[in-house]
Amino acid sequence: MVRPRLECELAASDDLAEAERYAGALGTELTFAFHYLASCSSTQEVAASLAEAGAQEGTVVLAEEQVAGRGRLGRSWVSPRGGLWFTVVLRPERLKVVQLLSLAAGVAVARAVRDFCGVDARLKWPNDVQVEGRKLAGILVEGAAEAGAPRYALLGVGLNVNNDLPPELREAATSLKEIVGRAVPRVPLLLSMLEQLDEAYSSLRRGEGGRIVEEWKALSSTLGARVRAITRGEVIEGVAVDVDSDGGLVVETGSVRRVCYSGEVIHLR
Ligand code: BTN
Repeated sequence: MVRPRLECELAASDDLAEAERYAGALGTELTFAFHYLASCSSTQEVAASLAEAGAQEGTVVLAEEQVAGRGRLGRSWVSPRGGLWFTVVLRPERLKVVQLLSLAAGVAVARAVRDFCGVDARLKWPNDVQVEGRKLAGILVEGAAEAGAPRYALLGVGLNVNNDLPPELREAATSLKEIVGRAVPRVPLLLSMLEQLDEAYSSLRRGEGGRIVEEWKALSSTLGARVRAITRGEVIEGVAVDVDSDGGLVVETGSVRRVCYSGEVIHLR
């Protein structure tokens, strides 16, 4: 009799400090342990300290706000109250898992948003989650390795949920509140993302990277688009035609195919 009541409470819960209470009921392979913070610099930084101190795989650092949130390519990430800003500590055994982790996380976040909110979330390479071309969520994977083997990976997710966006971001970014027209309870959404992340990470660990790449492609808004890829100081313009087994974006320019493994892609009209 306790469980249905818990589920009912969970469906409406927006109290992130309570997330751990519900996470125990998840049937995931990872065991999630939460560090809830009202405010921090960046959950990546806090998670790095915890990982260095031996934190177990599945440790989640979750902050109500970040005052120095970090994005990809050295950018900052605006993270006021109302959003979901968290980092999961992972301890993958193989570099191949780390290599595909950011694509896998993109698939997981897009799926959770689609299932939970019924929103047509799509993936822009490598892992921006977008709705109608505006950015809803970003993913940052950082890590430490030793002698060619990963020591840990920090999987950071930033999702605009009920937070207001600053004027300079309103054209390029969006939030779930803006899309669905009402506030979205963040705890069940967070747990849905963690379930999806667990599933995608388990697939990678079982050597099913090919499946993750196929799932990424099915949710992609980049494939088939004309793109400008800026990678290692080089600019490549062409049509994005594929993603290879390492997660690289294959861009066709005339009769030549080039593969980008890092950097940024702009969709051209
Ligand atoms: C991007 O540039 O698209 C990646 C953004 C990643 C933001 C998240 S919010 C939680 C975690 N902590 C950070 O400082 N960054 C990531």
